[in-house]
Amino acid sequence: MTAEAREVVRTHLEMARPAAELDEATRRMYRSRIAELLRERNAVLVAHYYTDPDIQALAEETGGCVSDSLEMARFGKEHPASTLVVAGVRFMGETAKILSPEKRVFMPELEATCSLDIGCPPEEFSRFCDAHPDRTVVVYANTSAAVKARADWVVTSSIAVDLVDYLDQRGERILWAPDKHLGHYVARETGADVLCWDGACIVHEEFKAKGILDLKEAWPDAAVLVHPESPEPVVEIADVVGSTSQLIRAATELPNETFIVATDRGIFYKMQQLAPEKTFMEAPTAGSGATCRSCAHCPWMAMNGLENLYRVLADENGAGQEIFVDEELARQAMIPLNRMLEFSASR
Ligand code: 13P
Ligand code: SF4
Repeated sequence: MTAEAREVVRTHLEMARPAAELDEATRRMYRSRIAELLRERNAVLVAHYYTDPDIQALAEETGGCVSDSLEMARFGKEHPASTLVVAGVRFMGETAKILSPEKRVFMPELEATCSLDIGCPPEEFSRFCDAHPDRTVVVYANTSAAVKARADWVVTSSIAVDLVDYLDQRGERILWAPDKHLGHYVARETGADVLCWDGACIVHEEFKAKGILDLKEAWPDAAVLVHPESPEPVVEIADVVGSTSQLIRAATELPNETFIVATDRGIFYKMQQLAPEKTFMEAPTAGSGATCRSCAHCPWMAMNGLENLYRVLADENGAGQEIFVDEELARQAMIPLNRMLEFSASR
């Protein structure tokens, strides 16, 4: 990442305020009011696995979806509701709007961003593509609409290896952005020629192989589950590497009783729900307490709370938290996004 991009990430990190902690009675009140408002407004809640457990539970109870970023995109596009409320980070809301331009799309907090998105400014990325015109441009979903508009393909972590393998077999060389760890993982898995942009996720980048191995000494039977945005030494010691939904599946299907999980701790809600008898532990990060930047929890996902979700639904104009995407950019970005959905449906 350039020094400039690092500085922008730092500024966004300083501004990221986690949603307020609420007492039990207030949480119950918001949950029931939000469920009513979703019905009244013909709206559906689409939430990521990293969001607050109350939000995930609400999405499930009200006929919405809790999933990884690929399924969020598919669900939002196919659902008949006229309004989507996307609890996650900005690129997820933008993807929903691009795929469903006729729907209104709101988010509890529009400032919830992602270090991968920030670290890939469209003009700079466009110059990178211009310098390598012979390469097929594959971008991760964690990018702005403008970066997607420049791509041949969009992927999420659940289909990245399959797609690059498919392109490699067609003899294509890849330009990959923005996550270098995922890009290098995909290159190792497929043997494809992959030229990577220098971006990283500030949450996954903090997991440490040494800390995980130390924890494994105390829990030798624990399986290590790792999201591929983590650095190579962490990926190397994993029992399973995969997207959030693939890690959840592994947590339920593997015979192990304990798991060390190297991804955002929001995922524990679903893991514990599906495997209540098992024990899930956070993989250690670079720092602890005040010294780690994320402590295994995405600071931008943490901005989604019941209060701001309620505000968006209670206000006629969505409390100013509506997603709009430039029409021409959306038209261009829709092409690689639809390719992604078609490719995943064909698997
Ligand atoms: P998934 O596509 O696995 O849900 O990941 C999205 C993400 O932002 C991971 O940090
Ligand atoms: Fe972005 Fe990382 Fe947060 Fe996922 S966990 S949204 S990749 S900053």
